[in-house]
Amino acid sequence: MNKIWSGLSEHRRQTCATTIADLFELDPNRFQTFSCEADGLLLDYSKTSLDDVGLNLLIDLAEKAGLASKIQGMFRGDPINVTEGRAVLHTALRAQGEPVVLVDGEDVMHDIHHTKQRMESFAGGLRNGLHKSATGARFTDVVNIGIGGSDLGPVMAVKALAPYHDGPRCHFISNVDGADITDSLEGLDPQTTLIVIASKSFTTVETMTNAATAINWLRAALGDQASQHLAAVSTALDKTAEMGISPERVFGFGDWVGGRYSLWGPVGLPILIAVGSENFRALLSGAAAMDRHFQSADLRNNLPVLLGLVGIWHSNICGYATRAILPYEQRLARLPAYLQQLDMESNGKGVTLEGAPVARASGPIVWGEPGTNGQHAFYQLLHQGTHVVPAEFLIAAEGHEPALTHQHDLLKANCLAQSEALMRGRSSEQARALAESRGIAEDDLDRMTAHLTFPGNRPSVTLAYPRLTPFALGQIIALYEHRVFTEGVIWGINSFDQWGVELGKELAVDLLPLIQGAKDMSKDGSTLGLVAKLTAPKPTP
Ligand code: F6P
Repeated sequence: MNKIWSGLSEHRRQTCATTIADLFELDPNRFQTFSCEADGLLLDYSKTSLDDVGLNLLIDLAEKAGLASKIQGMFRGDPINVTEGRAVLHTALRAQGEPVVLVDGEDVMHDIHHTKQRMESFAGGLRNGLHKSATGARFTDVVNIGIGGSDLGPVMAVKALAPYHDGPRCHFISNVDGADITDSLEGLDPQTTLIVIASKSFTTVETMTNAATAINWLRAALGDQASQHLAAVSTALDKTAEMGISPERVFGFGDWVGGRYSLWGPVGLPILIAVGSENFRALLSGAAAMDRHFQSADLRNNLPVLLGLVGIWHSNICGYATRAILPYEQRLARLPAYLQQLDMESNGKGVTLEGAPVARASGPIVWGEPGTNGQHAFYQLLHQGTHVVPAEFLIAAEGHEPALTHQHDLLKANCLAQSEALMRGRSSEQARALAESRGIAEDDLDRMTAHLTFPGNRPSVTLAYPRLTPFALGQIIALYEHRVFTEGVIWGINSFDQWGVELGKELAVDLLPLIQGAKDMSKDGSTLGLVAKLTAPKPTP
């Protein structure tokens, strides 16, 4: 592979003087060549500096990394999460039809279907009011307590699918900061609120602490009947039983579903409660359509592969350290946070599968905000800052608000204007002409020309879809999951473990006694100084 990596770097060196705008001049069909569509979802990557030679080299890289066979291995249930000795089968949760998916020689599809039916019946009962609260009232609110993968997916999807909500209101508590649970329970009635405790491990300190607080809140109003207002989602059924949660309200899943890949099964319970079975199934079928595409399309016409290769090009060959996720879709406001976990917890690794240091930069820093709000915050840096940040725009052809199509038109115009501006920039000649047209004094023209110049040649990709339906959302999420997989395969890392989160958790457990008054712990001066500051008796302001 080293030869291909050097070929890519050499190609970049030879072509970097040609701008993205030049590439459009050279090839009027560039959009057709460098875009790809699957089931109505379009990926336009023509506003990047990739050309045929670069793309062919990247495809060689993917082939050399064995991507095609590794894709099949994941879907087949091979134990590709080698550091945890597990298969990686979130795709089985959304598989359509009657496939057989074997884990350790056993077909897991029967359990998946059975759990899905139980979830649908439970959610259906909450939605139609037949599943009553301890006092015989209808549940009006559902509070999901979970963190990381047991929170971000459902939060993101519930918000994304707001036009489809017709069930109880859903709320989410994740942070161990008592402010989160206090503010979230404020105004809720324990008599009509169901608490879902979502934790794959059922040991996560934040979730267990918030769960205990929520149970006390229920008990204060309902006494022993509080347990009727509890449900759980976990792989650790022994632990949910220890907490006294009735098995009819516990939804289990296999350890071969990674937390950040888990919204398709029981972790997606709040989504199912909010939007109902038909819409939840459409979400799964959108993801399954992307799965089929990922498995069957050749690498050159494969959306997740192409998005992954564009990512590799930007981070490893062009040296861009971050990527911005910019949904022009307010309901995807939590997509950047969701993708931060999906991408950075999966590919933020410094060693290969074999345990050797990685040879080049792995997962980039992922960040973002919805447009148009981001335009009025950080786009200044995107256009004129010293860092080049590849942008990933998302935009629907139409919104869900027929009376507000003029607003959606404005949204689309803004989205397309941004990718055009990033690419074209504004030359110094144009900037000077603009300064002159604004009546800038002759002796200030040079200075203002510099300020009004945009370097341009900044790359972006755009994902365009008909409307943010459950199906489209499923496609988008699965696209990003498989993009992360593609990049992980090329970097030779395990995208499915997360050892990097452990140390901080262990140290927090160690530090708690110190915070609570223990003496004589050996810590560095900064930590001790901060503990003193944070634990000193405080004068009331
Ligand atoms: O700390 C990271 C992590 O393990 C994530 O991978 C996971 O999504 C999150 O914590 C929550 O874990 P659990 O679902 O087991 O509570």
